Amino acid sequence: MSATYTLDTSTSRANPTPAPMKRLTVPAIQKRKGGEPLVMLTAYTARMAQLLDPHCDLLLVGDSLGQVIYGLPSSVPVSLDMMCAHGAAVVRGSYHSVVIVDMPFGSYEASPQAAFASAARVMKETGAAGVKLEGGEAMAETVAFLAARGIPVVGHVGLTPQAVNALGGYGARGRSELERGKILSDSRAIAEAGAFAIVVEGVIEPLAIDITRAVACPTIGIGGSAECDGQVLVIDDMLGMFERVPRFVKRFDDLATRISDAAAAYAAEVRARTFPTSEQTYQRKD
Ligand code: KIV
Repeated sequence: MSATYTLDTSTSRANPTPAPMKRLTVPAIQKRKGGEPLVMLTAYTARMAQLLDPHCDLLLVGDSLGQVIYGLPSSVPVSLDMMCAHGAAVVRGSYHSVVIVDMPFGSYEASPQAAFASAARVMKETGAAGVKLEGGEAMAETVAFLAARGIPVVGHVGLTPQAVNALGGYGARGRSELERGKILSDSRAIAEAGAFAIVVEGVIEPLAIDITRAVACPTIGIGGSAECDGQVLVIDDMLGMFERVPRFVKRFDDLATRISDAAAAYAAEVRARTFPTSEQTYQRKD
């Protein structure tokens, strides 16, 4: 489905033509357990949301925006202000997908009440359908607290990037029996607490399959398995914006090269004074 957009300058909202389909809902996503695979990508801006929205079931405003948009070394320094600003932009740019906003490090771990205050702010300021938070058994009470108060929650287990300092890096998880058992029980705890979906990141494939079979809600894999109930990738990774990507990323384009080539062509034309031509300049009308 392709659409054209006109900008309403009073609201900055881009209105699509033809009118879009109805937005998917959290219960509709839940029902996809074991069915047609869920398609999720990250998005951080309104324009990218417009482009991805017709192809996705869910858009994730991931705290990966710390590295991808802000050039930060990890997602740890990402703030609630950043998540709210980008979350609102993605909601403005989308009409079909369920938009989920990541809760940044430090905004939800202290207590269920602290998590509720942060998540309520995200929901009010962005219009998103739900939030995502990282962690297992330790976060189960918080997931139950939010879910019982009308905030849909996506869990995130396995390789949890906000815990990079504790984990010691971004390597695959679940290779030892002990770790495998812990990640499986974390997944069960989050699902039983009421998460409506769980992102399973960077775990050995048999564990991703076991988690998918063990929990009642859909699993969304990233470095998991094609047997998960859906897949998610960081948009800039899959578009080929970075030279180095994790093993689990497939590049579906090489945008970095194409952007660099376009910038080089522009620079050459500016230096040769062949841009702008009469097609790009304004002349007197008389
Ligand atoms: O922040 C993010 O982009 C994520 C995905 C990698 C799942 O959490």
